[in-house]
Amino acid sequence: MQILQITDPHLYGSATGRLRGVETDSSLRAALDDAIARVPDYAAMLVTGDLVQDDISGYLRFRSYFGNIKKPVLCIPGNHDEPEAMRKELNGAPFEICGTHEIGDWMFIMLDSYNPGHVGGHLSKNELARLDNSLTGSRKHAMVCLHHHPIPMGSRWLDGVGLAEAHEFWRIIDAHTHVRAVVWGHVHQAFEGHRGDVRMFATPSTGAQFLPKSDRYAVDSRPPAYRSFELHADGRIDSRVHWVESSQMRQTAS
Ligand SMILES: [Fe+2]
Ligand SMILES: [Fe+2]
Repeated sequence: MQILQITDPHLYGSATGRLRGVETDSSLRAALDDAIARVPDYAAMLVTGDLVQDDISGYLRFRSYFGNIKKPVLCIPGNHDEPEAMRKELNGAPFEICGTHEIGDWMFIMLDSYNPGHVGGHLSKNELARLDNSLTGSRKHAMVCLHHHPIPMGSRWLDGVGLAEAHEFWRIIDAHTHVRAVVWGHVHQAFEGHRGDVRMFATPSTGAQFLPKSDRYAVDSRPPAYRSFELHADGRIDSRVHWVESSQMRQTAS
């Protein structure tokens, strides 16, 4: 089964809005077009937060690009989202906000780590209990998605705005041997690692990236990107990041 991950599009209400030198609307569209052309038989799309850049009219734009997709579009909020407006504007199919979804041999647990007024992430007691209950209730291979990074990325400024309840989060993950992967956004860079048998993936933004391992805030010059996963029936995962370099984006970045 093929799954696509699109993250951190940071849309504005205006098509010409720019963040860190990149026009977020056109770069999202280029990434989305590339993703659907490359992996047309994907089973679902994961959108792991920061759909908009502190601008709720960005959700209308998001809906206009994802609303006609005939597969589930599983979304979670990031620190730049406004969850109430997000639920209202992205109400109904194909959108699913948070929740738990089973597709084939796999389940996707979409966690809400939004913490009002904070850049960093927070998992409430309810959300931690939901994670535990979802994992107890199904033996399918589990992919757990959240916006904020639950491990240090080796970047001092970013590691100050990760997930506050990382210890509690991993205690639950570690107690369930059918968790195959933890997937996040927020860090605007590619990362792959593992914790025991659990694979870990971070995915670059469809807009501008952050420089990996930098102690201070710094923008990377790498292009927009997205990730594909091939999820096997036996729990194995193949994944790669696809960088999208188009002449259109080189123009808008100049
Ligand atoms: Fe972001
Ligand atoms: Fe974020």
